[in-house]
Amino acid sequence: MEFYDATKVEVLYSKQDIQERIDALGKQITADYIDASKPLVLIGVLKGSFLFMADLCRSIDLPIEVDFLGLSSYGDAEESSGVVRVTQDLSRSIEGKHVLVVEDIIDTGLTMNYLLQNLDTRRPASVKVASLLSKPARAKIEIKIDYLGFEIPDRFVIGYGLDYASKFRNLPFIGVNVGEGLPLNPQRSN
Ligand code: IMP
Ligand code: MG
Repeated sequence: MEFYDATKVEVLYSKQDIQERIDALGKQITADYIDASKPLVLIGVLKGSFLFMADLCRSIDLPIEVDFLGLSSYGDAEESSGVVRVTQDLSRSIEGKHVLVVEDIIDTGLTMNYLLQNLDTRRPASVKVASLLSKPARAKIEIKIDYLGFEIPDRFVIGYGLDYASKFRNLPFIGVNVGEGLPLNPQRSN
């Protein structure tokens, strides 16, 4: 019995849909950077990108480096506060390296806009963006997404790294919470 209430979660993209799309992105990224003379570092934006990063980096056939940066733009609310806070910095310099930012979702674009400005000051060779999801209907700032998984309608999604009130990141699919309240299984006490 699952910890979530399946009647309150509508599956938007299954595990297989996600894997197939990521494999295609990985091939595209491999082809685009195969002749690059400088190192490619994937920078995952914590926490939401951790599963996308895990699958994307394994679908890239290149000697990449991986690093993470913690950003927080939301409290436990669904609405962006517009205030971005660095909760954990990169572990190594990105100067002279090709950077690929790996993000779960670009919603208003405020978080990515802040991050791109921040990374630019560190003198990377180039910066590109990979995002699993994009919600163009809510964009406040236009962000160029070089590698996009799926464009989605203006709905709050959970799973595959994306949270609702810090939970549901471990759902193996991307879904929408339908009905009232958190989609937890009432028959499970934990
Ligand atoms: P933005 O600054 O509005 O583009 O928001 C970006 C961040 O908000 C993402 O990295 C997510 O962590 C979070 N976010 C935006 N939309 C959703 C959603 O539908 N579900 C879960 N998290 C979301
Ligand atoms: Mg988040």
